[in-house]
Amino acid sequence: MLSWDDFDKEEQAPAPARHAATAMPETDAQSVSAVDQSRQISSQDSSAVARAKAALDELDAEGLKDLEGSAARVSVDAKRMINCRADLNQLVPFKYDWAWQKYLDGCSNHWMPQEVNMTADIALWKSADGLTEDERRIVKRNLGFFSTADSLVANNLVLAVYRLITNPECRQYLLRQAFEEAIHTHAYQYCVESLGMDEGEIFNMYHEVPSVAKKAAWGLKYTHSLSDPDFTTGTVETDKELLRNLIGFYCVLEGVFFYCGFSQILSMGRRNKMTGVAEQFQYILRDESMHLNFGIDVINQIKIENPHLWDASMKDEATQMILQGTQLEIEYARDTMPRGVLGMNAAMMEDYLKFIANRRLTQIGLKEEYPGTVNPFPWMSEIMDLKKEKNFFETRVIEYQTGGALSWD
Ligand SMILES: [Fe+2]
Ligand SMILES: [Fe+2]
Repeated sequence: MLSWDDFDKEEQAPAPARHAATAMPETDAQSVSAVDQSRQISSQDSSAVARAKAALDELDAEGLKDLEGSAARVSVDAKRMINCRADLNQLVPFKYDWAWQKYLDGCSNHWMPQEVNMTADIALWKSADGLTEDERRIVKRNLGFFSTADSLVANNLVLAVYRLITNPECRQYLLRQAFEEAIHTHAYQYCVESLGMDEGEIFNMYHEVPSVAKKAAWGLKYTHSLSDPDFTTGTVETDKELLRNLIGFYCVLEGVFFYCGFSQILSMGRRNKMTGVAEQFQYILRDESMHLNFGIDVINQIKIENPHLWDASMKDEATQMILQGTQLEIEYARDTMPRGVLGMNAAMMEDYLKFIANRRLTQIGLKEEYPGTVNPFPWMSEIMDLKKEKNFFETRVIEYQTGGALSWD
């Protein structure tokens, strides 16, 4: 067995040999300087090795103590969604099988934006009379909103939520979700680049267009306190702050703010226009409906484990948040559809968004605020329900292969 001393010798020995093997003829002066240089390198190596050895000795003495506190094997009963004391580095045993299942489902739905054929979209977008001005407005506004919205969601996950959700199987899903958000932002960039749009106009729209800016600002305010590295949960107020963030991002941002845009772009695809962009949005919608369902499950699990948080004032706040989000999305619908277009108009979208708001409210155990609202776009529900089937897209990749050719239907 090698000891540290053997390691030191092995590191020192080959250094001059490397120089001796140099094939070029050398003058005496050059040789001397090469030997000096090699001695210098060797002495640097040796001091680096000595420092590495000292650091590991220190780890033996001090660092391993950090692991002692969690020496017992993890029991399912000790696992909790927030403020958990069990070891978070051990994925199993699972407590929340639904979180692991969503991670597996997310992986089996893997896709990349470049797999979608954008040829027909490019021709249509560049032709003078291919789309009406109202249709062009819908494409641009939605790329503008989504191109930054998915970054806001990703940043919130990585900088705020991940640290505070103290459960490894949920964190495994959060890591998958964070990568999916990166793919979504990539998809919007890919559309903008393919169509030759002004990228500054699209990506800065959340500053320049009020109906887009208001939605972004509404989401951002729920990230602020949690992304402070000193923020921790553990009190009623801070636990509620995390709950507000989860409701704001999962139920409103991903659960309401995406739905006007999704239905507009998918309606366009159903009319055989911008089919590549529509296909990108279909893949994204499938991912997003899983993000939403995961978030709902997390929120409901936190409520079960911490019933004191879900008091009358928190229920009222959650209701208000979903209603505010719905109102902002109704304003966005009016801005993106000043006239009827693609078989829909702002009034129909308002009904659809109220229908969606009722769903979000009941999913986290609150009462409907728009009772009796009927879904004017039943085809959207059909698309959402179809997500459960593996190969529902016409051009769905049958089996995902990395780094090679893809097989298509
Ligand atoms: Fe996304
Ligand atoms: Fe998402």
